[in-house]
Amino acid sequence: MFIDLSNAKVSVPQAVSDQAEDFRKQLFSGAMENTGWVDLPWKMSGEILDRIRQTADEIAGKCTLFIVVGVGGSYLGARAVIDALNGDQPGRPHVMFAGYNMTGAHLAKVADAMKEQATCLCVISKSGSTLEPLLAYSILKEEMFSKYGEKEAKKRIYVITGLQDNPLRRDVEKYGFSSYYIPEDIGGRYSVLSIVGLLPIAVAGFDIRELLQGAASLSMERITDYACTRVTLQQRGKDVEVFSYFSTNLRFFGEWLKQLFGETEGKDGKGAYPACLCFSRDLHAVGQFLQQGHQVFYETMIQYKRAQADFVIPDCVGEPFAGKMLEQINRCSEAGVVRAHSGGGVPVTVIQVEQVDEYNIGQLIYFFELSAAISAMLLGVNPFDQPGVEDYKSNTKQLVQLL
Ligand code: PA5
Repeated sequence: MFIDLSNAKVSVPQAVSDQAEDFRKQLFSGAMENTGWVDLPWKMSGEILDRIRQTADEIAGKCTLFIVVGVGGSYLGARAVIDALNGDQPGRPHVMFAGYNMTGAHLAKVADAMKEQATCLCVISKSGSTLEPLLAYSILKEEMFSKYGEKEAKKRIYVITGLQDNPLRRDVEKYGFSSYYIPEDIGGRYSVLSIVGLLPIAVAGFDIRELLQGAASLSMERITDYACTRVTLQQRGKDVEVFSYFSTNLRFFGEWLKQLFGETEGKDGKGAYPACLCFSRDLHAVGQFLQQGHQVFYETMIQYKRAQADFVIPDCVGEPFAGKMLEQINRCSEAGVVRAHSGGGVPVTVIQVEQVDEYNIGQLIYFFELSAAISAMLLGVNPFDQPGVEDYKSNTKQLVQLL
């Protein structure tokens, strides 16, 4: 992974760098709460990993549709990785996500797909009581029971939840569903390298060992540099971080970043609002604003060197494009955007990986997780809670009582 901070055009005070280094050590000290995720790249190996892969293969052997129910950190990591790696793999189930909204039309589509295909259902919720996944799971569980009958449905339903008593755990006890637990010290948005992300990713047919090895290979040296840069920019009035990328496959990786940084930093009136933009599409939507609008942004661009697929541009297009590769033009656009945006006053950090594969995605995941946690600590907020999210939940529950 290559990190270019030269276009961020900010000098980080030495005191901030020193503090960030202290915070990085604290994260790995074993003495800090909610840091069970920091050693996942090494811990998820050997027998544990083999068991997850075995379960994934068993699931893949009995279905063509794998429905994963969850929201926030219990959903976005798996979706980000599966999408980044091109989705459906030959001979593996199609993974469909549900429970991240309460849209009847979406759930109807999932239920319809279920009718036509051999299905397994997996619900992922650490608390086991989050409204959106709980409702979707309860409805889909009934659909599974009516499609397969209770005895067979029980062999096709998987529950991943916390150890404490909760509605999902009670269902595990009642029906005997296969279940896996989410350790107490791993929060949702830091859980993609745990069973939460690894099982769906493995069912989809991707190499979770490579994902973890990529994460484990991350060099610790530059992590604090990025965290310090973004916090210094925030302190100089840059209130919005734009994560940009030139591949539609990274769309959900962007959504994962939005959630990771949004919930980690956005509290006590602090943090940068995380936005994600998929170029070229968004260059023709908000590119104008970035270039010449109210300058509240800094940008973190994720680049890859080698594309997953490519095309030769036909002669009919004419010079200077004919005969060149499509992704060569994409790279020129990427470099052109860095030049234009930084020239227009947007500080740009470039994070470049060799290619979008399991290994490099693992590295990116771990890099951003550590960066988010260290950034929040530099801002003086708790990286691992999300008290603001509770407000909409309690308001919703009050309104439901009035129905
Ligand atoms: O990052 C987090 O902790 C949250 O986004 C949670 O993942 C999200 O609220 C879902 O929670 P749960 O897994 O308890 O259903």
